[in-house]
Amino acid sequence: MVRISVNDLSSFKQSKKRFTVLTSYDSLTASLFDESGIPVLLVGDSAANLVLGYDSTVPITVEEMLPIVKAVARSTSKAMVVADMPFGSYQSSPTAALESATSFLKAGAHAVKLEGGQRVSSTVSHLVESGIPVMGHIGLTPQSVNVFGGYKVQGRGEQAEALLQDAKALENAGAFSIVLEAIPRDLAKQITESVSIPTIGIGAGPDTDAQVMVWQDLVGLTPGVKPKFVKNYLNIRQDIEKAIKDFSKDVESGKYPDSDHSYD
Ligand code: KIV
Repeated sequence: MVRISVNDLSSFKQSKKRFTVLTSYDSLTASLFDESGIPVLLVGDSAANLVLGYDSTVPITVEEMLPIVKAVARSTSKAMVVADMPFGSYQSSPTAALESATSFLKAGAHAVKLEGGQRVSSTVSHLVESGIPVMGHIGLTPQSVNVFGGYKVQGRGEQAEALLQDAKALENAGAFSIVLEAIPRDLAKQITESVSIPTIGIGAGPDTDAQVMVWQDLVGLTPGVKPKFVKNYLNIRQDIEKAIKDFSKDVESGKYPDSDHSYD
């Protein structure tokens, strides 16, 4: 089986075939999602919160992301693996960005993602010219949470035009796709119709070319208040809690292990 490439995603856009992107941070989920036919796996910097226990994506480093990217890349044979560039790893200069992006490709990723529009377009061009496919990310870009003053919907009112220009700047810089996060659905539709590369929505309504979801949100593992756009297709947090309580009870009462689960 040949791996999904940027050309496949471009043909999906041309033939109006919607597709799915899932985050992955470990070998088990990567192989499961790959076998399930998910074409793109994103090793998101959301690993900061979901794997390493930070309270935002700001602290995670390239060194912390690399083993996670390696695990996901090693465990797939069909999906394109996209590594998220951590905060601080691409902002200082296109040269610094190339160095970080190169380490992700050497770790097995097939592309990188970075946050920002017009302000990162020269960096995107430099990476693409150096042979590294780039996924853009605009709207609610979580690495800028301290500028936004919280995780708020972006692109309302006068901000809409700037986001449209950001999307066009990324396309002109050679990005192969753009994540649109937490923006009004009409704006996401307008951006999707205005660019020739696939848009990948998360909290951007139904009219983008693809949807990305954090897998723990999809299956109801993430605790706390869920954003409006998250739909739980399972509630495994409850199931896991029940399983571990039942296990503890059985251990404490001597019911486990019974003879069916013991060697003679
Ligand atoms: O880090 C991440 O998981 C992401 C997606 C939510 C797009 O950037």
